[in-house]
Amino acid sequence: MKHTRIAVIGGGAIGRTHAVAIRDYAGTELAGIVDPFETGKALAAEMDSPHFTKFEDLPDDIDGVVIATPNALHVPQATALIEAGIPVLVEKPLGENAAACADLVALSKRTGVPGLVGHHRRHNPIVQAAKQAVDQGRFGTLVSGTIAATLAKPDSYFTVDWRREKGAGGPILINLIHEIDLVRHLFGEITEVFALASNRQRGFDVEDTAAVMLKLTGGGLITISLTDAGVGPWCWDTTAGENPARFPAMPAVSHMFSGTKAGMSLPDLAFWTHDGARDWTVPQVNTPLETAPQDSYIEQIRHFAAVIHGRETPRITLEDGAANIAVIEAIRHALAENRPARIDPLPQNAASEPKAMME
Ligand SMILES: NC(=O)c1ccc[n+]([C@@H]2O[C@H](COP(=O)([O-])OP(=O)(O)OC[C@H]3O[C@@H](n4cnc5c(N)ncnc54)[C@H](O)[C@@H]3O)[C@@H](O)[C@H]2O)c1
Repeated sequence: MKHTRIAVIGGGAIGRTHAVAIRDYAGTELAGIVDPFETGKALAAEMDSPHFTKFEDLPDDIDGVVIATPNALHVPQATALIEAGIPVLVEKPLGENAAACADLVALSKRTGVPGLVGHHRRHNPIVQAAKQAVDQGRFGTLVSGTIAATLAKPDSYFTVDWRREKGAGGPILINLIHEIDLVRHLFGEITEVFALASNRQRGFDVEDTAAVMLKLTGGGLITISLTDAGVGPWCWDTTAGENPARFPAMPAVSHMFSGTKAGMSLPDLAFWTHDGARDWTVPQVNTPLETAPQDSYIEQIRHFAAVIHGRETPRITLEDGAANIAVIEAIRHALAENRPARIDPLPQNAASEPKAMME
């Protein structure tokens, strides 16, 4: 069978992960790295792949493209590729604002050219096991949740300009968006948010730390503690073992969810139920959910190839990417106004305007 030929635009940190996955998955072939700068050129040489300085130069026989460039380029590059009939896997965040994402969603619908968003956790068997327990009704309805995302990023990470800038960098846009996608995937839509943020540790324009609250359609409440400047193992990246070459996995948890029937933590998949009546004086038993290891990035590329050939529909749609951005915009709005912001459900969840709520 002919290999699916996939190119990567942006040969930086995550571009490398995609290129390796495309090389390592048996059904795909790395068709090229597009990057005008030295890092991308060096990656192409290392991967023994053709190198291009602009994506317009890619050969005609490519089947799909991964967009792993700085955030501001996602929508313009995805728009040009979809207009040219080429399916895309766009790294998160899908775009910098919901309106631009909504236009991209509409273009993909109109042309029938599919797009997938790089919220790779949904390809992780840990998340799939948690989702199955929720879908099977074993967890019940979400009551409350606590998520920690403690990311001690090295100073060298911030030498790239866009990572220090408001609107393009910061853990709310870069990291929290994965949590937003996970919460929406597991428990449904987010209707209201509130947040506090601080830039005290790094002193950049953009925040380094935030405390965020989410309210869900079912009435569940989730609090998220987020920082890129604090030490501690409590975050998905440093506990789930998804990318051990970059992030050694430590034996801690990052997510704790309480449902009407069970309590569940991630990534250890502890699943707590009462041994008898639902009563805090009755002992609880942990029967961990079962899962088998699977490389999320390889599974993401396998899935992308299947989407390209119409065998599967995108697990993380462009609508999802747009809805995630709408929540981020609402959080920004809540921060600017210093009060809760509501997210109204709109068609495709794409272009919602957050509304500050008078409390
Ligand atoms: N899914 C994930 O877990 C995950 C992890 C990291 C980054 N990301 C996302 O991936 C994107 C890239 O992040 P990164 O950390 O790899 O950044 P990076 O700065 O390491 O890499 C970006 C690359 O894009 C290249 N580039 C810049 N302009 C370009 C252009 N016009 N055409 C082609 N290439 C161009 C740069 O030279 C660089 O090599 C961001 O949107 C980020 O949010 C996702």
